[in-house]
Amino acid sequence: MTTSNGDPKLDCKVCKAGLAWALDNRIRMRLQNPDRILAKLIRSGQKVLDIGCGPGIFSLAMARIVGEEGVVIAADLQQAMLDRLRMHAQAEGLESRIHLHKCESDRIGLNETVDFALAFYMVHEVPNAEAFLRDVHGLLKPGGQLLLVEPKFHVSAAGFRKTIDLAHTVGFDTAAEPQIVLSRSALLRRH
Ligand SMILES: C[S@@+](CC[C@H](N)C(=O)[O-])C[C@H]1O[C@@H](n2cnc3c(N)ncnc32)[C@H](O)[C@@H]1O
Repeated sequence: MTTSNGDPKLDCKVCKAGLAWALDNRIRMRLQNPDRILAKLIRSGQKVLDIGCGPGIFSLAMARIVGEEGVVIAADLQQAMLDRLRMHAQAEGLESRIHLHKCESDRIGLNETVDFALAFYMVHEVPNAEAFLRDVHGLLKPGGQLLLVEPKFHVSAAGFRKTIDLAHTVGFDTAAEPQIVLSRSALLRRH
């Protein structure tokens, strides 16, 4: 999702925080229900990462699933997105399970490993997909999985194929291709 409005320092491909309403509304929650998408991929007690979390509908679902013993790291390069997620997390009483992390466009900048990572509608916004995928690969525990989802309205089938080929190059295998409305998706496993 793109716009030329907002912070002039941000790459024009980045979905600006002013469009957060398009990401955390009821219609989307129905079409792309985060609890349903994530239910079989993560479990109670895990440490998981939502990269490019935006206003956080997936981070919140992750927090519900990992429970009190688990941790969600919600990372985004826009502080305004993280602030919006904090507000939602407080409203749901989930803020203690969600660690907000502000990253750079070319570096996630974490020094810990996670069981699962999500990159939902964000890889087409990063400046270097191969470097990004290498970064995520390094943050996953062996056998850990990355669910990579891209919007059909911004990413062609060929473009998505290229991203998956890059993921294979940096050390992922494709474990599954989940069906998600309006999306192209792959569940990638670190081998
Ligand atoms: C289209 S939004 C998707 C938000 C969320 N994943 C969702 O599906 O609701 C893309 C988000 O990725 C973030 N983003 C873009 N490039 C990024 C990068 N290199 N590192 C971290 N976040 C990034 C943007 O700031 C924006 O919040």
